[in-house]
Amino acid sequence: MCKSRFLLATSALYVAVGNCSSQPLTIPLPPKNSEAIPNDLQSFSLEFAFFPDYAGNKSSPNQFSRNLMENFKNITGVYPKVRVGGTSQDNSIYYPDQNDSIELVFTNPTDDQPSQINYGPGFFESYQALGDMQYIHGLNMKQNSSIQQLTNAAVEACRSMGTNLDSFELGNEINMEAPEYRPANYTLQSYSNEWNYKTAAIKTAYEKACPGAFPGFMAPSFVFSDIVKNNWTAEELFQLGYDSKNLTKDLSFHNYMGAFVPPLAPVSYDLQHVLMNHTNIVQNLAAQIQRAKNLAYLGHPFTLGELNSIANQGRNGETNVFGDALWLVDFSLWCAAHNIKRLHFHQGLNYRYASWQPIASEGNPPKTRPPYYGQIMVASAIGDAKDARIVNIPLAEDTEAAYGIYQGEGLSKLVVLNLQAYNQTASRSRPSREYEFKVPNHVKKAKIERLSAPGSDSVESVTFGGVSFDYDLLEGRPVVVEEKEDVATIGRGVLRISVADSSAVLLTLS
Ligand SMILES: *[C@@H]1O[C@H](CO)[C@@H](O)[C@H](O)[C@H]1NC(C)=O
Ligand SMILES: *[C@@H]1O[C@H](CO)[C@@H](O)[C@H](O)[C@H]1NC(C)=O
Ligand SMILES: *[C@@H]1O[C@H](CO)[C@@H](O)[C@H](O)[C@H]1NC(C)=O
Ligand SMILES: *[C@@H]1O[C@H](CO)[C@@H](O)[C@H](O)[C@H]1NC(C)=O
Ligand SMILES: *[C@@H]1O[C@H](CO)[C@@H](O)[C@H](O)[C@H]1NC(C)=O
Ligand SMILES: *[C@@H]1O[C@H](CO)[C@@H](O)[C@H](O)[C@H]1NC(C)=O
Ligand SMILES: *[C@@H]1O[C@H](CO)[C@@H](O)[C@H](O)[C@H]1NC(C)=O
Ligand SMILES: *[C@@H]1O[C@H](CO)[C@@H](O)[C@H](O)[C@H]1NC(C)=O
Ligand SMILES: *[C@@H]1O[C@H](CO)[C@@H](O)[C@H](O)[C@H]1NC(C)=O
Repeated sequence: MCKSRFLLATSALYVAVGNCSSQPLTIPLPPKNSEAIPNDLQSFSLEFAFFPDYAGNKSSPNQFSRNLMENFKNITGVYPKVRVGGTSQDNSIYYPDQNDSIELVFTNPTDDQPSQINYGPGFFESYQALGDMQYIHGLNMKQNSSIQQLTNAAVEACRSMGTNLDSFELGNEINMEAPEYRPANYTLQSYSNEWNYKTAAIKTAYEKACPGAFPGFMAPSFVFSDIVKNNWTAEELFQLGYDSKNLTKDLSFHNYMGAFVPPLAPVSYDLQHVLMNHTNIVQNLAAQIQRAKNLAYLGHPFTLGELNSIANQGRNGETNVFGDALWLVDFSLWCAAHNIKRLHFHQGLNYRYASWQPIASEGNPPKTRPPYYGQIMVASAIGDAKDARIVNIPLAEDTEAAYGIYQGEGLSKLVVLNLQAYNQTASRSRPSREYEFKVPNHVKKAKIERLSAPGSDSVESVTFGGVSFDYDLLEGRPVVVEEKEDVATIGRGVLRISVADSSAVLLTLS
């Protein structure tokens, strides 16, 4: 970063008022062992209890959600993958003769999640409502009274979902939850035995009822955080004979940057310190990246099967604002640069970190929220290339990050993030940072698409490349609302770009 300051002249044009004396940055080659980024890197996890609210059903599909999902397909060539699960998956029971698709029982009316979920065959209609997508259906591991109850749900899933069933998941965050519903002597070995026994029963029932090969599981769906009291590790789990039949399709672990539990620092402090902080993102992901290396010998893709910014459904002022979208971009690209294959961003009705509110509820109208725009920017950075690889470009400050995206051997795109908080109500003019990158000599121009909003605390007026996906405009379809900037200046193999505080830019080279 050059320390020169820039003044915002118009929303699209930045004028230099300082001198930039530092050397242009060199963009490293992707590491030798880096693999192509899957086009469905941006994927979703939908809370089991709220899946019908997101998807709708056959007679009444949720067109807004359909549009938001289809936008990804139109950018990357493939739909995101959707895991239907979460805490409520382990409180859900399938009743083959229940007439209602879903019945939710709330212990307290103001709880974020129901304590009991009963679902019937109608629930599976929601899998036909969202688009021709691949789903991971979550099964309840907590209930231990009936194997039949478990296999009935799995068989109904394969019968009604057909080729849209990607795989199953048995149990959510068992490493944290088991002490709450298993005896005190329940060990990692007990879990391994129980999972092996139950997944074998599911496979047998599936093969009796449904054609085709058994699709496998996303597993073990552990979460690691300070509030998890036991010391179970995934490395040890697989040493104990877990999944001896190799039924795992994708390795899955859950990830959050923190939790919405007291004691809490002021939101604006946490937004900058926890989320809009590249150093903190790198530290947060270090253990997952190490875990991926430790488990690579298993031969399964390593995914984050449930993640979002702040656990316990997020925190208003921190996770529902534009700064969270900037976090999401940096977080996703750092994962992609370290061979993490898919990111299932968790969603639920009225959740404070949700990418969108699918239906009106509790006074919250249907709405595209800021994190969605971060996801669209990441999808656009990957695009539909089958051979995109990514490399981080080291920068000096906590509040900045940059990435180079290669297609094959050639540099094709750049992403630059300025994570310095800027309040929309600030009276001072918005500062910018200027960056210079050395690019190959044949690069003549770069298309500019900015992720921007009035401030890091904005909940509205977010755009990417001048495009809005607002519900109120075209129900989540893209609408150009700002004139797009055309190209960045490139001279003598140096690309110059200025990036306003609390914004990011995608540069596509040509
Ligand atoms: C489908 O959704 C509509 C709207 O929410 C609802 O009225 C209807 O009962 C649902 N149909 C089934 C079969 O659940
Ligand atoms: C996706 O692209 C198709 C083909 O161009 C178009 O018909 C459709 O409306 C697009 N979807 C959305 C949500 O804009
Ligand atoms: C389900 O609907 C059928 C047909 O309307 C009815 O005969 C049956 O009693 C209902 N079952 C329950 C459990 O309500
Ligand atoms: C759960 O059920 C399985 C199968 O019936 C049994 O082997 C296992 O011991 C049970 N686990 C607990 C903790 O009750
Ligand atoms: C664990 O405790 C239960 C009683 O809570 C007992 O039935 C079971 O035998 C114990 N298992 C082991 C392996 O000690
Ligand atoms: C985990 O904790 C248990 C008891 O709390 C202990 O027996 C075991 O050795 C520990 N394992 C590791 C890997 O630290
Ligand atoms: C960023 O995070 C690191 C690690 O948690 C911390 O040491 C640093 O103070 C944070 N920076 C800002 C600007 O909050
Ligand atoms: C298990 O299956 C994966 C594919 O999901 C494969 O890469 C791996 O080699 C298999 N492991 C064994 C021990 O067969
Ligand atoms: C933004 O506003 C909050 C609350 O008014 C304040 O605490 C914070 O310091 C401001 N941040 C910036 C970057 O101006």
